Amino acid sequence: MLKVRWALTPICTALTLSIAGAVVAEEAALERGRYFMNGIVACGNCHTPMGPDGPLPGKELAGGTEIVEEGHFTARVPNITPDAETGIGSWADAQIGKAIREGIRPDGSLIGPPMPFEVYRNISDSDLKAIIAYLRSVTPVKNKVAKSAYQIPLPPNYGPPVDSVADVPRGDKVAYGAYLAGPLGHCTVCHTPMGATGGPDFAYRLGAGGLPLPGPWGVSISANITPDPETGIGKWSDEQIKKAITDGVRPDDTQLAPPMPYAFYRSLRPEDLDAIVAYLRSLPPIEHAVK
Ligand code: HEC
Ligand code: HEC
Repeated sequence: MLKVRWALTPICTALTLSIAGAVVAEEAALERGRYFMNGIVACGNCHTPMGPDGPLPGKELAGGTEIVEEGHFTARVPNITPDAETGIGSWADAQIGKAIREGIRPDGSLIGPPMPFEVYRNISDSDLKAIIAYLRSVTPVKNKVAKSAYQIPLPPNYGPPVDSVADVPRGDKVAYGAYLAGPLGHCTVCHTPMGATGGPDFAYRLGAGGLPLPGPWGVSISANITPDPETGIGKWSDEQIKKAITDGVRPDDTQLAPPMPYAFYRSLRPEDLDAIVAYLRSLPPIEHAVK
């Protein structure tokens, strides 16, 4: 009897410790997911229905917004709350991950635009896990959304299957800023005009703005956020750039229109804002007047 106890105690302790470790890791992922989703990632900017005063209460990620691009599509933003019938509650983690990074649903069908798959492909494995942990934690909302209608043909896919994506080191400020402004936040997708192939012209006009963004607000034209002094933000101070990002206010005190998600960016940590500004300053300046 005594002998068995002696043998079991260390095993039980090790087991308890590893379970506790897993719980701690799970909570850390959820916390990171919460920070991302209510900040830089801002899936809710499309997936949460908005009223005149911003997100409708009690409807976080419940979908239903129509995004109409005349002659191209009427996209109806789906419910991505954990409701099993009308949301994604019955999807496995790997299926949700595939939908986010590759645009492929569990039934194999392709998710259409304007969800920014061009950059979501490069979300790191650990950040994807954090986003999924947060998606699982939101209140399930019953809201059946009709299917989207696309007049344009969808591509066969958004690229080869995504296997594994490494984290970008935070110590490299410009690289981490690029990761925040690209894969996590898709600033670059909204702020880059379309190229000949239909996707954002990252090769030649990264950040040059001028992309029309239709929605319930009408049509907004994205701004040139390259360091060009006349048509971009080259003359703005770091503080002025940060104020535009987090408060939606330009140096001349005019207010930015949706869908610029500044309400989400309010909670960005100072070091993340610094990294974004460092990245924007590193972009090649492009002369491109959008207004
Ligand atoms: C620019 C708007 C936009 C953003 C940002 C966006 N989505 Fe979407 N998402 C859509 C639209 C539109 C669809 C549906 C397209 C269609 O009908 O084929 C969609 C579809 C989905 C689906 C498939 C749901 C289903 O039932 O078919 C999932 C899952 C999803 N989005 C998750 C996310 C997550 C997670 C994020 C943030 C990391 C995100 N989306 C960001 C617009 C967006
Ligand atoms: C969903 C699309 C969208 C996303 C995502 C987005 N923006 Fe914007 N942004 C816009 C639009 C549209 C405007 C112009 C609004 C207007 O003219 O009132 C704008 C304006 C701006 C401005 C003001 C520039 C000027 O000259 O007026 C800055 C700076 C800016 N965005 C930076 C960013 C950064 C940095 C990110 C990512 C952290 C980002 N934006 C993400 C759509 C977007």
